[in-house]
Amino acid sequence: MNHPAPAHLQGPRIKTGQPSATPYQTLSVKRLTPVLGAEIEGIDLSRELSALQFEEVSRALAEHQVIFFRDQHPTPEQHLAFGQRFGQLHRHPAAPHAPGLPDLMIIQADEHSPRANGEMWHSDVSCDAEPPMGSILYIHTCPPSGGDTLFASMYAAYDALSDRMKQYLSGLTAVHDGEHVYRGTYANLGVQDKSLYPRSVHPVVRTHPVTGRQALYVNRGFTTRILGIPADESEAMLRLLFTHMENPLFQCRFRWEPHSVAFWDNRCVQHRAMWDYWPHTRSGFRVTVLGDAPFYQPSSDHATT
Ligand code: SIN
Repeated sequence: MNHPAPAHLQGPRIKTGQPSATPYQTLSVKRLTPVLGAEIEGIDLSRELSALQFEEVSRALAEHQVIFFRDQHPTPEQHLAFGQRFGQLHRHPAAPHAPGLPDLMIIQADEHSPRANGEMWHSDVSCDAEPPMGSILYIHTCPPSGGDTLFASMYAAYDALSDRMKQYLSGLTAVHDGEHVYRGTYANLGVQDKSLYPRSVHPVVRTHPVTGRQALYVNRGFTTRILGIPADESEAMLRLLFTHMENPLFQCRFRWEPHSVAFWDNRCVQHRAMWDYWPHTRSGFRVTVLGDAPFYQPSSDHATT
C-alpha cells in the first residue's frame, strides 16, 4: 500500500501556475512575484485612458491583484478622473481630504505625526456595507529609505488552507467594525468624530465578482468577531487566520520612489504600510473606488449542507 508523503515532502505550499497567455497591446507588465504584484509600463495616468488601455489596466489588476506605475505626475483632478474610470468614488468616513476635494484622501506622515495610515494589515474600510473595490495611492514625496507598502494575496491565503478548513469557513460571516479604528484617530488634524462609524457583516470567504476566485476576507484592522460560533472559538479562529494571512509566501513588498502609484484590489488583497522612516516625510493622495457588498458563492466541493 502506498503511504502519502509527509507534509514537508509534498512540494510547495502554494502553486500559482502561469499568468494569462494573452499578450497586452498597450502595456508592458512585469511581475513582482508569481503570487501577486506587477509593475506596469507604457501608460501615463494623467491622460484619459483609451478603451483598450482601460480594458488592459483592468485585466492587469484582475491578474496581479496590485499593480504599480512609476514616474507619474497626475494633478489631483487627473488622479480623481483616473479613479472614476473604474467606478464611483468612495468617500472615507473619517480621514482628512485635500481642501475642496472630498474624494482625495491625504496620506501623510512626518516627524510630528502621532500615527501613519495603514500600519496594520487591512483591506480598506472593510467596515462599510459596500467596501471599496480598489484604492489608487499616489506618493509624491518619499523618505530617503523605508516607507514600503506590503501587499498580501487573499486568494493565495485561501488556496493554501486545507480542504477541511475551507469547508469549516464556508458560509461563515464576520463583523467588521470601524469604531475602534476611526474614533479619535485624526483628532490631531482637527477632524471631529462622527457619532457613529460603519459596522457591517461580511462573509469570511468572499467570491471575487470579476475573477470568481475565493479570497479570505477577514483582517486584523477591522474584523472583530466571527458570527455563529462561540466567542472564544471566534477569537482563536481569527488569530489563526490573521497569522496565516501574514505568511510572507503570500506577499510582495513595494519600494516607493517619488511619483509612484499603486492600485490595489481590496477584494482580494490586504496591505500594510511601514512607518520606519521617522523623522522623514512621506506623503501623497489616495483615490478610492467604491465596490459592491461582498458575497460568497460556494465552490461545489466546499458548499455548506
Ligand atoms: C493605506 O491606504 O492604508 C496607506 C497605505 C500606504 O501609505 O502605503
